[in-house]
Amino acid sequence: MKTKIFRQFFSLFLFAAFISINAQIKPTIYVLATGGTIAGQGATAVASGYKPGTITVDQLLSAVPSIKDIADIKAEQVANIGSQDMNDEVWLKLSKRVNELVSQKDVDGIVITHGTDTQEETAYFLNLTVKSNKPVVLVGSMRPSTAISADGPRNIYNAVACAVAKESIGKGVMVVMDDRILGADDIAKTHTLSVGTFENPNFGHLGIMYNGKPVYTREPVKKHTTASEFDITNLNKLPRVEIILSYSNATSLFVDAAVKAGAKGIVTAGVGNGNITTEIQNALADAVKKSGVAVVRSSRILSGPTTQWDEIDDDKYGFSTSWYVNPYRSRVLLMLALTKTTDYKEIQRMFTEY
Ligand code: DGL
Repeated sequence: MKTKIFRQFFSLFLFAAFISINAQIKPTIYVLATGGTIAGQGATAVASGYKPGTITVDQLLSAVPSIKDIADIKAEQVANIGSQDMNDEVWLKLSKRVNELVSQKDVDGIVITHGTDTQEETAYFLNLTVKSNKPVVLVGSMRPSTAISADGPRNIYNAVACAVAKESIGKGVMVVMDDRILGADDIAKTHTLSVGTFENPNFGHLGIMYNGKPVYTREPVKKHTTASEFDITNLNKLPRVEIILSYSNATSLFVDAAVKAGAKGIVTAGVGNGNITTEIQNALADAVKKSGVAVVRSSRILSGPTTQWDEIDDDKYGFSTSWYVNPYRSRVLLMLALTKTTDYKEIQRMFTEY
């Protein structure tokens, strides 16, 4: 009888110990830094001017000591640049490093600090090339680290809190800023100065960060991460794709220059529903026919799809259209599409799925 009671007591003790240890084992989050305003420094706390990408990832994280309460943080400096200088080399390095880390059992999620100027492009590139359902969260700030009410520390805390949450698994790549969770599937920077600059103009944001926890109100709309057909594992270079704006009286000058420079793809940021001047249209038709350039019509308008056959006979010219993918993310998708196909109908499929 005594043995039975001892066994029961000992089993209870072991269970309590397991629960207690488990509760103390925090998720492991890697913070990969690339630069941007979040790592920027101004001359004074009130000065508007600042230099982006000046403080290191360790200095960044020292401003947010409370993240150590919710995660075991590891930090790496991948780059330290203003994101206006983001480039294919950093993208490939970043995506390969993320894939290495998320393939490790002891890594639970990734936070990437990044400038806001091209954050939507990097987020979308990772959304299409990361091969895991573990949370990958990009974060930036609109005020430098030295500013009064710098938004970086709060954004970093929220990004880590989002990355450690089980509900964030399988949501694709996300951007967390100004207490909101944005999906990479429809991300756009919409204001030059506001801390709430990022929006999902077509699909609405994924959710909010409230009281240090994510509250999701929608699922991602498009294919991403583990459902993506794109793989950059063995790529060291991406196809050259240029974006060409249309506006009143726009000529074929930049189309001709892009073709001459060896562009494999051209995305147009057209007026209205992706419309372009007749001169641009004719030059693009020639580029498709004579140089095999892939053409995707997108729009300079912030929201709404760029649809096929509205005013332009896309099949006649071999054009694809971007649907809900804005010109900057269309360039990313076309670069990856061209690693697999040049067929305009296959490219069109990709623009309806991603
Ligand atoms: N230089 C810009 C960049 O790195 C500043 C914008 C920002 O990070 O908020 O994107």
